[in-house]
Amino acid sequence: MTQRFDLTGKVAVVTGAADGLGAASARALSEHGATVVLLDISLDGAQAVTDALPTPGLALRCDVSDQTEVVQAFATIRERFGHIEVLHNNAGVSFTGRGDAPPDELEFDMWQHIIGINLTGTFLCTKYALPMMVDRPEGASVINTGSIAGPVLGSTTTAYSAAKGGVVAMTRCLTTTHGGRGIRANVICPGSMDTKMAAMVKSRPDLRERFISQVPLGRQGLPEDIQGLVVFLASDSSSYFSGNVLVIDGGLHLV
Ligand SMILES: NC(=O)c1ccc[n+]([C@@H]2O[C@H](COP(=O)([O-])OP(=O)(O)OC[C@H]3O[C@@H](n4cnc5c(N)ncnc54)[C@H](O)[C@@H]3O)[C@@H](O)[C@H]2O)c1
Repeated sequence: MTQRFDLTGKVAVVTGAADGLGAASARALSEHGATVVLLDISLDGAQAVTDALPTPGLALRCDVSDQTEVVQAFATIRERFGHIEVLHNNAGVSFTGRGDAPPDELEFDMWQHIIGINLTGTFLCTKYALPMMVDRPEGASVINTGSIAGPVLGSTTTAYSAAKGGVVAMTRCLTTTHGGRGIRANVICPGSMDTKMAAMVKSRPDLRERFISQVPLGRQGLPEDIQGLVVFLASDSSSYFSGNVLVIDGGLHLV
């Protein structure tokens, strides 16, 4: 059974891999034998994570919202490896309480910035990864990171929620358009996870207590909490699993 989670021989690309959930994903994929390519706007950060991986990986600087940088990164991956079995579109930014607001209060630049990284970044990386992923004998897996904000729960963050809703829709389209070419695509929708992105929850004990008291499992998520799901979706164990939205939030969406 453990062999079904073995990722030896697979090339996995993780975006936003220098920190938080992306770094946890890269570590888990590497621990299960994959060769991991870590893309991040912070090359130093991605390199530090890469240096600590159990199997050799590759760190590349890439701003996922910039088409030129994405083209360059995937050209390097093609040159070095020639194929990709797993793409984890994880890079994202959130400006909760810092400008992402209802439409009448949201600045256009802020909208474009958030959509650019969370949604356009997912599109661009998928676009340039797909030619190296299609028609592989054992198929290939696209794992997109959404959020409970937007696709699952209501939220005040217009741009972030719209971007994450778009990520879910794009994943479903990909399931439909590329299933016949061996691509399965699924979305992970985390609740509040203890990373830099959710630093505000940590910095405000009152907010943290209130939040935690609402989570059925009684705690904030940790980056490690997504690792099992990522390995499952990357592995041949999920070979008949596509088009799903997987919520990982300690049960918060039912409250
Ligand atoms: N932390 C949470 O509570 C939470 C909840 C739901 C969804 N998410 C989603 O999970 C994903 C990871 O979030 P996190 O909490 O690990 O965030 P994080 O801020 O801890 O890490 C994000 C990583 O993405 C990188 N990044 C930012 N902009 C980039 C760009 N333009 N190009 C490439 N890399 C870029 C950062 O350098 C960083 O390494 C995001 O898509 C986020 O929306 C997080």
